Amino acid sequence: MTIETPVDLIPFDDPAFRADPYPFYAEARIQAPVYRSPLGVWVFTRYAEVSKLLYDRSLTVEQIEFGPASPLHDSALGADAPRHTALRRALNKWFTPKAVQVWREHAQRHLDDALTGIVERGGEFDAVMDIAYPVTFLTVCDLMGVPPLEAIGVRQATYDLGAGLGTNPSDDEVAGVADAMHWFSRHAEHLIDLNLAASRDGLLSSLLEMERLGDLTRDEVVGTLTLIFAVGHLDIGYLIVHGLHIFAEHPDVAAAYRDDAALRPAIVEEVLRVDTPEQFVTRMTTTPITIGEVEIPAGEILTILISAANKDPEVFPNPDLFDYRRDNSKAKHLAFGGGLHGCAGQVLARAEAEVVFRTITERFGGVRPAGPVVYGHTDFIRSITHLPLTLSSI
Ligand code: HEM
Repeated sequence: MTIETPVDLIPFDDPAFRADPYPFYAEARIQAPVYRSPLGVWVFTRYAEVSKLLYDRSLTVEQIEFGPASPLHDSALGADAPRHTALRRALNKWFTPKAVQVWREHAQRHLDDALTGIVERGGEFDAVMDIAYPVTFLTVCDLMGVPPLEAIGVRQATYDLGAGLGTNPSDDEVAGVADAMHWFSRHAEHLIDLNLAASRDGLLSSLLEMERLGDLTRDEVVGTLTLIFAVGHLDIGYLIVHGLHIFAEHPDVAAAYRDDAALRPAIVEEVLRVDTPEQFVTRMTTTPITIGEVEIPAGEILTILISAANKDPEVFPNPDLFDYRRDNSKAKHLAFGGGLHGCAGQVLARAEAEVVFRTITERFGGVRPAGPVVYGHTDFIRSITHLPLTLSSI
């Protein structure tokens, strides 16, 4: 198993890599499945290692230096057990299948409003700003029990945060993360003041009650609110946009989704597998670990490429093909991570995607391309920033 290679197999900063990382992942999977990047991080591209590492309880996130994003250590995403357990407990009941039935109805209402405006304007729309963002942002505000203030500010701060969470952020990107964290913290404090003045049912009230009982600190309330603001629309927006993009490019997939309800879950899972929104999760070793023949010392950063694992041909034959009929009985995709930090919002994410895909295909047949697609991929996030479409039947 090779570790050192003359060329950088995973050139995270290279525009060609960011445009299409999958050929690079494929090469690394063959040449060095356990790869020490020139950036000093260990990179994993095979399903076998990635899925094992997600469940390795010896790894830490709490001890990773988050730099200006360090307030996220006060959220589940940045904490190890036992603090993680309390932070996760504060969230779980808001994201159960039963709870999500309610948020599904909210998402439907916000989508119906958005579609009414789109139809009035003639049926052409930007899937990012006219559908994905309003539906996901307004729904997560309902869930938190906060007014939908500063929609554009939340979006910009989330984008700046995401851009700075890559493997090798520039000075400008690091400064952007610092600004975004300050912005989120001020916004969260403002919403907390509003809630204390006139309580509304929702996640925020429940976090404040936990603070009152001494189960959470104020920093943990703010950290959790910041996390939910960001994850409540970022990846899920990309799932919705990637799905609508596939429907526009492959009307047969939209027709299959519309005509056969039994196929719908598999189509959503295949969208997540083929263009996994979050490319990797990051962990640090606390003790030496051995992967294959390679010993990795304590204190090393691991870049665990869930997106590369989702394209491993050992597990997903012909992996670049969008094939919603593939046999997934051997292994599931890893787009939601797994283990202790596995995505808390995955039931909600699937439900909101289902609301959008079902409503658009059933009411309008599907969607057609209406202009050039604009991409904003970083090494961390696969993103479409502008997707012009037209409702098929208009
Ligand atoms: C398609 C949509 C989504 C994708 C692909 C996604 C992906 C992920 C991934 C990969 C992680 C693991 C991070 C890690 O291990 O370091 C994660 C964690 C998390 N996600 Fe999601 N997510 C999505 C939607 C959501 C939504 C809608 C919410 C809630 C509103 C949410 C809440 C969370 C939370 C709270 C965590 C941290 C869990 C923990 O550390 O215990 N996610 N997500």
